[in-house]
Amino acid sequence: MSEWNINVSSRIIRLPPYLFGQINKLKYDKRRADVDIIDLGMGNPQDPPPKAVVEKLCEAVADPRSHRYSASAGIFNLRKEMAKLYESLYGVKLDPEKEVIATIGSKEGFSHICLALMGPGDTAIVGDPYFPIHVYAVALAGANVINVPLGNDQAFLDRVAYVAEHLYPKPKLLILNYPHNPTAMTIDNVGFFEAVVELAKKHGMMVIHDFAYGRTCFDDYKAPSFMQARGAKDVGVEFLTMSKPYNMAGWRIGFCVGNSEMIRALATIKGYYDYGIFQAIQIASIIAMRHCEADVKHQASIYQTRRDIVVDGLRRAGWEIESPRAGMFVWAKVAEKHLAGQGTIDFAMRLLDEAEVAVSPGRAFGEQGEGYVRVALVENEQRLRQAVKQIDRALNKGIKFPSASKKKKTGGRNDVEKD
Ligand SMILES: Cc1ncc(COP(=O)(O)O)c(C=O)c1O
Repeated sequence: MSEWNINVSSRIIRLPPYLFGQINKLKYDKRRADVDIIDLGMGNPQDPPPKAVVEKLCEAVADPRSHRYSASAGIFNLRKEMAKLYESLYGVKLDPEKEVIATIGSKEGFSHICLALMGPGDTAIVGDPYFPIHVYAVALAGANVINVPLGNDQAFLDRVAYVAEHLYPKPKLLILNYPHNPTAMTIDNVGFFEAVVELAKKHGMMVIHDFAYGRTCFDDYKAPSFMQARGAKDVGVEFLTMSKPYNMAGWRIGFCVGNSEMIRALATIKGYYDYGIFQAIQIASIIAMRHCEADVKHQASIYQTRRDIVVDGLRRAGWEIESPRAGMFVWAKVAEKHLAGQGTIDFAMRLLDEAEVAVSPGRAFGEQGEGYVRVALVENEQRLRQAVKQIDRALNKGIKFPSASKKKKTGGRNDVEKD
């Protein structure tokens, strides 16, 4: 035993338990045994970024000037390009100097803005189910989370208002995410966000809207930006990512836009922690935003086709599922007979074991997620059809999938640890 007394901080100790641990271990063990797991667990994009973006990256990498420390807030031309995109997509004007900042993926930006805005004694309101970092980042900042059942209507806002009216000290922050991960919940129009702004102003709350799936919309749906709501810039910011619309997840680049004081607070924290994103990535991202609109639409159409395969297939297998109109996920209620008195963590373990398909248990996204699983649309059409077939056979026909000798077929490993 070491003589040293290693004591991790209370920041780590107060983190909620990591509920993907057991499943990830089983997935890892199966992979080690060469089992061909169809991995619909994590929302890790498997398609390539636009060709022009990769070419620009290679060109920029070859430039000796790209390799110095960059600007922590992002180079000005990148922020200007994001402001231009906002104006063309949403009709919203942003000052690239004060109202736009680049982040090392939206997850980093989200985590650090929580650190910049929240501390012990502060409270954030987060809908349940939730994307885990929306809770963890607040906890890591030393602040508290109050969960209210998630919704996209006045009833949800009434629940938020109730907390704001009864909690002392008042909650400081409201965290939103539409299109939502994991539930795929969307809002109809910007009127919802206008009611959010009114509520935030009434109770003195700041708002963070995570807009990671804003560009992944199906059929005729167009997700509204929080920034389109009158007065949004007075109370909040919005996070965007290059990960999903441009398949640049591993590149680690995203943005925060909106309220200049909140952005300044984020810039201050980032200024201490980082030296900016690799400049070649920033330059290639300018090309993505400037020239790759068709690729973004094409990628959304790929997810739409995959959505139809999963939704239609599972419905045929007896599942009751709403077809999502945005995002990368199908949020599926598990029939009581399949749960057989167990929770969805056990159910997901069973699917992994007997159907060789990995999905995320709803419980890992909060108490309100119990009873559901999240299916990520991150494998190709043929693999998704196969996944549905294997699920149907395992659950409805009792046929297990003993494919232990099969070699892995998946192109990319989709086994990164944290969602
Ligand atoms: C809702 C939501 N926000 C943020 C992220 C993280 O995105 P990024 O790659 O920009 O850190 C994800 C990734 O899955 C997400 O689903």
